Amino acid sequence: MRVGILGSGLMGGKLGTIFARAGHEVVFSYARSEQKLKRLAREAKGKARAGTPREAAQDANALLLAVHWSRIDDVLKQAGDLSGKVIVSCSLPMNADDTDLVVAHTWSGAEELAKMIPKARVVSAFNTVPSEVLFGVFEARRKATRPSVAYCGDDSSSKRIAAELIRDVGFDAVDAGPLRIARYTEPFALLVAQLAYEGKGGPELAYRFERLAK
Ligand SMILES: NC(=O)c1ccc[n+]([C@@H]2O[C@H](COP(=O)([O-])OP(=O)(O)OC[C@H]3O[C@@H](n4cnc5c(N)ncnc54)[C@H](OP(=O)(O)O)[C@@H]3O)[C@@H](O)[C@H]2O)c1
Repeated sequence: MRVGILGSGLMGGKLGTIFARAGHEVVFSYARSEQKLKRLAREAKGKARAGTPREAAQDANALLLAVHWSRIDDVLKQAGDLSGKVIVSCSLPMNADDTDLVVAHTWSGAEELAKMIPKARVVSAFNTVPSEVLFGVFEARRKATRPSVAYCGDDSSSKRIAAELIRDVGFDAVDAGPLRIARYTEPFALLVAQLAYEGKGGPELAYRFERLAK
């Protein structure tokens, strides 16, 4: 697939690198310097290049949205028309100092995003994974037991694409249902982060839940 990365920081940089190494054609976009995007593309050692958000969106089968909540408007504006595009979002609706969710319980960042770009097809995924964990995942992807990661969305063909990307990173893709389920996965991501950075076993908790559908 051709995968555009909107936001090439910890999440976008690492996931884009893994996607490129898994054989996808990746366009890294949206960082504060073009040099950084070029370096990421070079180091990905796969089919990867640097580009603008508009170039990342062009002909993309999927776009990974990985920017701070405060940058969403800007990156979407730069990406241009996203009608029909599959947007896999790991962005959490955090406040400026990253201490709290600005949307929660009865609504989610993912649903808010879908409202902002009604003609795009939004899937929420990867946001319960602390970025540090991704650094070891690709190497471990051939292990027999793969950690589980939930995704949710309202469009089945977009969800199939998101699930493929999740599997390419080395996770088992668990369909958690419609996009409104992001109301529960987004706060869960904060629990995972709290345990990962201040407790023990956060990533294990992020991964190891039983298949929801069974
Ligand atoms: N990090 C995690 O563990 C984690 C886990 C789950 C979900 N998330 C969510 O994923 C999203 C991304 O998180 P992250 O940790 O990857 O953030 P990050 O490392 O700060 O990456 C954000 C990207 O946006 C770029 N950016 C910021 N301001 C910009 C500007 N004015 N112009 C151009 N580019 C700009 C940054 O550029 P530079 O590269 O130049 O800084 C960076 O590439 C957030 O919504 C977060 O809540 C993160």
